[in-house]
Amino acid sequence: MGIGGAGGLLPFPGMTYASAPGKIILFGEHAVVYERPALAVPVAQIHADVEISESSNHGIWIDAPNIDLHAELNTLPFDHPLAAVIHNFLFTFRIDPFPALNINITSTIPVASGLGSGAAVSVALIRALSSHLDHPMTNEQVNALAYEIEKIHHGTPSGIDNTVITYARPVFFIKPPSVSPQIQGIWREREVETFKVGKPFTIVIGNTGISAPTKEAVGDVRKLWEADKEKWKEVFDKIGEIVRSAKQRIENGEWELMGELMNQNHALLQKMTVSSSELDRLVEAAREAGALGAKLSGGGRGGNMIALVKPEIAEAVSKSLKDAGAKNTIITTITP
Ligand code: MEV
Repeated sequence: MGIGGAGGLLPFPGMTYASAPGKIILFGEHAVVYERPALAVPVAQIHADVEISESSNHGIWIDAPNIDLHAELNTLPFDHPLAAVIHNFLFTFRIDPFPALNINITSTIPVASGLGSGAAVSVALIRALSSHLDHPMTNEQVNALAYEIEKIHHGTPSGIDNTVITYARPVFFIKPPSVSPQIQGIWREREVETFKVGKPFTIVIGNTGISAPTKEAVGDVRKLWEADKEKWKEVFDKIGEIVRSAKQRIENGEWELMGELMNQNHALLQKMTVSSSELDRLVEAAREAGALGAKLSGGGRGGNMIALVKPEIAEAVSKSLKDAGAKNTIITTITP
C-alpha cells in the first residue's frame, strides 16, 4: 500500500503492512491548542512502518528496534502508547482471546522533533491491525483512536498531528470546542477540512538534533496562558489571523507574502518561549541564505524548523542550515 493508505497484504502469506507519513505544521502550532486554526501538511519522505504476521508463540510480540523495545504486550504498562493502541483496538472490536502476533515497528521519523513520529506510529499500527485482523476502519475511526493515544504522548493535544497523518493531505485544522465528549465525538467524526495549494512550493526542513517533548512546551505555554489570559488571547488571536491569511496566500501562490507571515509567526512563537537559540540560529541562517521566510515547526524548544524557498536555492539553503548546525535537512515540495 502507499503511504497513509489503508494497509494491505505483502507477497508473504499472512503478513500485513501499513505505513504513515511524517508531518510539518506550516502555521499555527501551540495557538491551535486554544482553538485557533492551523495549517499542516504530510511529509512522505519520512514514515513509520508496521508489519504484522502470525506468531508461533503465544502472545503479541512487539519489536520496535528504534526505541530498543522487544516485549510481549502484557509486560508493558497499560499507558505505554504502543500497548494502548493494541489494547484499544482489541477492546473496540471485542477480540478475545488475543491472537498470537509478531508486530514489527520501524520509523524514519526522528522522535520528539515536531515531525509527528508518535502519531505516525499510532496510525500505521492501527491500520496494520485493522487490515491483519480484518476489521475495516474509516479514516474517522483511525483518527479518533490515534487521538486517544496522542493524549498519552502530549497531555492536551489539539489533534492536528493525528489528523494530518491519518488523512495524509494538507489540513486546515481547528480543534473541536471544549464541550461535552459526545459533541466532541460528533465534531471529530466530521470530514477533515483540507486547503488548496495554488502552485507547488518548496520547504527545507532543518533538524536541530535536539529532542524536545511537545508535552513540556505545551505545558509551559499553558502556565503562561493561565497567568495572563488577556495577554495570551491577543497573541493567539494574532496567530489565528496569520493562519487565515497564510491559507489565502497558499491558495493564490503568493510566496513572498507567505514567507513574511512565517517570519511573523516565528516572532510570536519566540514570545511564547517555545523557540530556542538553536532554532533561532537555523531560522536566521535560512533567511540569510535567501529563504522567503522561516519559522520553527511543531512543539519547538528543539526539533525542527522550516524555511520556504524558491526551488532553485533549496540546496544552498540546506547547506547553510547544515553549516549553522542542523543535524540533517529534508527538502520537500508541497504540490496541488
Ligand atoms: C505539535 O505538533 C503541535 C502543537 O500545537 C501541539 C498540538 O497541537 O497538540 C505544539
